[in-house]
Amino acid sequence: MKTILHVVGARPNFMKVAPVMAALARFDDIRQLLVDTGQHYDEAMAGIFLKEFGLPAPDRSLGVGSASHAVQTARVMTAFEAVCLELAPDLVIVVGDVNSTMAATLVAAKLRIPVAHVEAGLRSRDRAMPEEINRIVTDCLADVLLTPSPDGRENLIAEGVPADRIHHVGNVMIDTLLRFLPAATLDRIADRVPSVRGRYAVLTLHRPSNVDERATFTGIASALATIARTMPIVFPVHPRTESRIAEFGLTRALDGVCLTPPLGYVDFLSLTSNAALVLTDSGGLQEESTALGIPCLTLRENTERPITVTQGTNRVVGTRCEDIVAAFHDVQRHPPARRRPDLWDGRAGPRVASVLHEFLCG
Ligand code: UD1
Repeated sequence: MKTILHVVGARPNFMKVAPVMAALARFDDIRQLLVDTGQHYDEAMAGIFLKEFGLPAPDRSLGVGSASHAVQTARVMTAFEAVCLELAPDLVIVVGDVNSTMAATLVAAKLRIPVAHVEAGLRSRDRAMPEEINRIVTDCLADVLLTPSPDGRENLIAEGVPADRIHHVGNVMIDTLLRFLPAATLDRIADRVPSVRGRYAVLTLHRPSNVDERATFTGIASALATIARTMPIVFPVHPRTESRIAEFGLTRALDGVCLTPPLGYVDFLSLTSNAALVLTDSGGLQEESTALGIPCLTLRENTERPITVTQGTNRVVGTRCEDIVAAFHDVQRHPPARRRPDLWDGRAGPRVASVLHEFLCG
């Protein structure tokens, strides 16, 4: 019997772990344990996803909470080292690019426990982005690198990762999206979000480079106010962003935008899958809008997910007010073609499981 430790911590981790755990459950020579670092701790940012995806109660909860990058990373490392020493796993699986991903990888690598990274190889080439540092460190140390798109392999090979460690498995997040899409209907959220199918835009915004910089956030808010005069915008607000709206006095500027608290997974999917347009600085939403065939304007200078631009519905438009508004008008006139990248097919979890079972049990 081999023991696998899965690590979750922040909101974007849960939808990636769920299909991998489900697929590994069919092997009776594998025992799976779930460790929740507690990087996110609000019910709306973490707890609700465990329930919606039917994940088991975490076997260990580290309760690290919010802090500076160094302190948060160190807290995960200290607590996760004790868990690894206690449970002696044969493999640690990490997903995505959050601080918990990198911290758990560092711990396992130093204890000589093999690490598998789901969503390996993505690069924005922007080291001002904390996630880029997390991706580079995690991929440099991981033993099994599971990539969602062909650019992942190219990036890893260019960085000197041996080819036999890299497996192109596709996008596990799309497994979760396709699983829940039939349940994602607007009537679920009609009491909270007044929206007419295909007639509104969905917005998410939480990158420190956008919302922690007063000038940048003010420019974006001004673009949103302009767009909202043509198309209603629904904006589930991340806690970091909520604080900045208050701090920078942007409540009035966002008057025409419909702000809501963060939504659960199926509620949010109901919102995005029925929207005319997505405006975002999230990585995951660039992928989800591509899978749904809904146009996406990414309010950033770069993306670590170029396949959503070359094959999907995404356009990286920057953060200047006039550029965002121009892109909004342009995408109405020239909607992108709908194509779904290879292996974004709802079967990535089983492919991950096959690779990992082979790695562990031969
Ligand atoms: C983290 C990830 C980011 C991911 C995002 C999704 C890193 C470096 N960043 O960013 O990649 O896209 O999660 O949300 O790992 N807060 C709450 N309740 C919570 C969690 C956070 O109120 O449950 C507030 C706190 O004020 C906290 C702030 O949000 O200081 C930021 O949280 P943190 O986890 O540090 O970073 P995120 O911006 O959420």
